[in-house]
This record gives sequence, C-alpha cells and structure tokens, in this order.
Amino acid sequence: MIDSHCHLDFKDFDRNRDEVIEAALTNGVHTIVNIGCDPVSARRSVELADRYDCIYATVGVHPHDARQYNDEVEGMLRELAQHDKVKAIGEIGLDFYRDLSPRDIQKKVFRKQLELAIELELPIVIHTRESFRETLDIVKDYMADLKGGVFHCFPGTVDDAREVVAMGFLISVGGVITFPKAKMAVVATEIPLDKIMLETDAPYLTPVPFRGKQNQPAYVKYVAEKIAELRGMKFSEVEKITDRATQKFFRLVETFGG
Ligand code: NI
Repeated sequence: MIDSHCHLDFKDFDRNRDEVIEAALTNGVHTIVNIGCDPVSARRSVELADRYDCIYATVGVHPHDARQYNDEVEGMLRELAQHDKVKAIGEIGLDFYRDLSPRDIQKKVFRKQLELAIELELPIVIHTRESFRETLDIVKDYMADLKGGVFHCFPGTVDDAREVVAMGFLISVGGVITFPKAKMAVVATEIPLDKIMLETDAPYLTPVPFRGKQNQPAYVKYVAEKIAELRGMKFSEVEKITDRATQKFFRLVETFGG
C-alpha cells in the first residue's frame, strides 16, 4: 500500500517518528508521500525523503499559509524541487472554511504555484475546503499545461468527482471514509478505482477504529479495507489498483523495480 498524503515532518511525530515509519513498513505500506505545506515543512519533507528510502516528498505552500509566499519562498521551492525524490507541488489550493489567509492572497498564491508546477513539469496536490468551484475555475486556466493533479481528501459529491476525473485528475480518499454516513464512501464506490489514491493525512483524520488517537501511515489499511468492503472487492485488488494509480501519478518508477 501507499500512503499518498501525510505529514510526518510535523512536530506531532517528534516523539515517535521512527516507530511510526517502522509500523508502516510492518503493516505493508511500502511507500509514503510526505506533503510539504509551508517553507519549513517543505524543507523538512525533503530531509525525510533523504533519510528514508520509503519516503517521497512534495513541496508547496498551503492556502492557510499563503501570506508567507514571496519570491524568496518560491526560489526555495524551486531549488528543493530539484531533488529527485520531490514528486509534486503541493499541497496548494484554497481554504474558505478557515480563511487563515485573505482569499485574494490565497488565489494569487495558488496561481503562482500552478505556474511553478508547470515550469517544473510536476503534478499538483490540491487542498480545497468550502471552495471547490473556485478551485476548479482556477485550475481550468492551467489545464492544458499541467502534468496532472489530485484533489486530496476529496470534499465533493459524486458529480464533482466525475467532473474532476473527466479532466484527467485523481482524487484521494482518507480516514473520513470510515466515519458514519461519509459522503466520501459514496464517491469512492462510484469512481473508477484507478482514479483513486489512498491517504491518511496523518496526524489528522484518524480512521475508525482509532478515531481520536494520532493518525499514522500504517492506518491507510483501514481506508483500503473500507473501499474493498464498499465495492465488494478483495483487499489485495484494491491495494494493487490504487498502488499503480499512485505510482503512475507521482512517477515513482523506481518502486516498480528493474
Ligand atoms: Ni494534508
């Protein structure tokens, strides 16, 4: 299995990072993509990718921290992206739920990083909350030149997901799918499985049966189990198809071996 989106660089893991990575490997998670979300986190994500074989990184500035974005930060992201284990720009996007940076700045910084992704020929990892239409409208301006994208922790309806897939994008599904009456459960049943990546968003959004505790990449198996149950498929089949989709999306060719 692959955890396509987590935050092992966060200080939440300072006391148990090695254990958590070991637990992931023991539980069949062979690849982890650590997502950068501000200048410090981007640098720390690349450091983790350097230290651990199983970890890849993305670099970007989250809409919450859009105010931190400037030419110097952009230069740093560009430089970090030269590392061969940096596989995407993200997480980037809009968040009109928490509104931690002004909306006009969020939009401007999202556009700047879409341009950066195009320049670097990297796919994008999108965060969007209470802003799906606005996010899509901006992305559409860059579609022709983008190397793909994923809407992480997909927040929309089945129709929204179909629209995103028709654009050539993927969605990623995390622990929320195990919550009672999750809209995501319907989405993850209706959308072709090869357009879905698994994620934890650890340390957040811990799946049942560990809800309330710190999330970790090993728990991505509960997401895979739930999808298998909902779709009436074997766990191993879900694992195989979503692994391939993720390896293709992030161009993790080395994980194919040979
Ligand atoms: Ni995240």
